[in-house]
Amino acid sequence: MAAKTKAMSGVALAVEGFRDEVAVVTGAGSGMGRATALLLASRGLAVAVLDRSDESAKSTVDEIVAGGGRARAWRVDVSKSKDIDRVFERIASKLGPIGYLVNIAGHDAVSPLENITDEDWSRMFAVAVNGCFYCCRAALPGMMARGFGAIVNMSSLHAIRGQAGRTHYAASKAAIMGLTKSLAREKAPLGVRVNAVAPGPIDTPLWRSGRGGGALEKDIVERVKVIPMGRLGEAREIAELIAFLLSDRASYVTGQVVTADGGEIMP
Ligand SMILES: NC(=O)c1ccc[n+]([C@@H]2O[C@H](COP(=O)([O-])OP(=O)(O)OC[C@H]3O[C@@H](n4cnc5c(N)ncnc54)[C@H](O)[C@@H]3O)[C@@H](O)[C@H]2O)c1
Repeated sequence: MAAKTKAMSGVALAVEGFRDEVAVVTGAGSGMGRATALLLASRGLAVAVLDRSDESAKSTVDEIVAGGGRARAWRVDVSKSKDIDRVFERIASKLGPIGYLVNIAGHDAVSPLENITDEDWSRMFAVAVNGCFYCCRAALPGMMARGFGAIVNMSSLHAIRGQAGRTHYAASKAAIMGLTKSLAREKAPLGVRVNAVAPGPIDTPLWRSGRGGGALEKDIVERVKVIPMGRLGEAREIAELIAFLLSDRASYVTGQVVTADGGEIMP
């Protein structure tokens, strides 16, 4: 669809303010990653669906293809540097040049700091921070060579305001903010924009799994009391924000961490 629009209009932009280049989305088998992959495909982009779960990645691709979109699945653990390099090479050769990257893969964990093991801490950073670094590093040479690219990284409200019981999670998401801003400054002259989103509570399998203990609905009622909009966010609402930041509609936006939290904090 995007290529057709490009040919018809004779301009470099595809539908909805996107170029006809490939979007790589990590963690695209579930939650916000899945919603983002589906949305970008619906806007005409070919999407590389990356997830550590083969089954989840394929299910996202099946839904995209059933809707007439273009996508391929890759099972990969983003914390494995060599695997990432190999997968990005394969994506470029199978789908085409990578112009868009969305780093969403991550996991949650709850523990008082004194009970966090070395392994817990390392694993949190290996997936959230190292994974983001490896994917950016793998995507950038192609983007820089073509003088075009847009990256969105996943931070969290917890990185901005802190969260008891989630020190390693919040610290890793704060690292994402530093990476995002520094990379944005470094690559702005080369045509690559880099932004991050910092969602509040979004109703996904991950959010639900981290709460409840049999009283999930009560947890939700308590949680939304401090949210002016009075509800959890939905994955598609974050996907819309990510799509905007990737698109040419945000062509003067880089180095930003955009919160989407129903008004919970207004930094
Ligand atoms: N849900 C929320 O309230 C919320 C709020 C702020 C930030 N976040 C962050 O957003 C991201 C997505 O969260 P979600 O709620 O959509 O979660 P989710 O569990 O629904 O989806 C996360 C996906 O990432 C994949 N994944 C996990 N580790 C991976 C790895 N090492 N390599 C490749 N894939 C991996 C999982 O298999 C899963 O499909 C996470 O980084 C999370 O920390 C979530």
